[in-house]
Amino acid sequence: MTTLRDKIIIITGGTSGIGEGCSRHFAALGARVVIASNQAGPGSALERELRAAGHTADFVFTDVASEASVQALIAHTVELHGRIDGVHCNAGVWAQGKVTGFDDAVWNRVMDVNVKSVFWTAKHVVPVMERQGAGVIVITTSVAAFVGFPSHALYCASKAALEALVRCLAVDHAGKVRVVGLCPGTIDTPMLAATCAGWDKPKAELYAEVARRIPVRRLGQPLDVAQAAAFLLGDESGYINGTSLVLDGGTMALPPW
Ligand SMILES: NC(=O)c1ccc[n+]([C@@H]2O[C@H](COP(=O)([O-])OP(=O)(O)OC[C@H]3O[C@@H](n4cnc5c(N)ncnc54)[C@H](O)[C@@H]3O)[C@@H](O)[C@H]2O)c1
Repeated sequence: MTTLRDKIIIITGGTSGIGEGCSRHFAALGARVVIASNQAGPGSALERELRAAGHTADFVFTDVASEASVQALIAHTVELHGRIDGVHCNAGVWAQGKVTGFDDAVWNRVMDVNVKSVFWTAKHVVPVMERQGAGVIVITTSVAAFVGFPSHALYCASKAALEALVRCLAVDHAGKVRVVGLCPGTIDTPMLAATCAGWDKPKAELYAEVARRIPVRRLGQPLDVAQAAAFLLGDESGYINGTSLVLDGGTMALPPW
């Protein structure tokens, strides 16, 4: 059975959706979690709740798009716990539209939060993990890296960049740092709910239609992703490096017609 007992794990975007599920699940598996996001209220509430349940949890307000903020997060975690065993780079944003409708500001926001954040996190955590002799970085990518979702060029490009980063970081730092991608399909989170805005049907109806098209006939839940992430952050996955695990209920296995 997977255990994360006493492992020090940072989860970015750890206060909502997939990240919140990971914060809760990692804590339940014995990890000392450092929950990082730009949601101060939910972060403090989650910290309180996990501590009240007997877990070790700290919320650190972080803007992952800022190198200084990420650097401070890493430094603060080392101050708190003396080491960092795992980082789950999970914070992300979504933007809808075709290339003709985007401007520099939207490009920068999506690329900064989704991609640059992982660059800066790796830059500052790799030296810590190399000093320790071990560490794992798990990066939430998306099936959007592999398929052309209509009107999602920017989001898809950002996720494809992360798939490349998984490979490059894994090769550059192999032996001490393991780097693995986690590639979800359709997961029931506030981000997914936001994608339903502007459709002519209620969310429940849209979700039911999507579920019918997924081979396992249901949307993924944050816990589905958290369980896989815990395995990848744990000691039982020690030979998995430089690749991504797809969690999509079989959607990508469907024939394309
Ligand atoms: N929900 C899905 O179907 C799905 C599918 C594939 C991949 N993903 C990816 O999973 C990850 C989590 O998404 P989710 O669906 O749980 O979304 P969500 O909107 O529920 O959560 C996103 C989290 O990222 C945080 N965040 C955003 N910008 C930030 C910033 N600048 N600094 C710090 N934190 C920031 C938010 O505060 C929030 O905690 C994202 O990377 C997303 O792209 C989601």
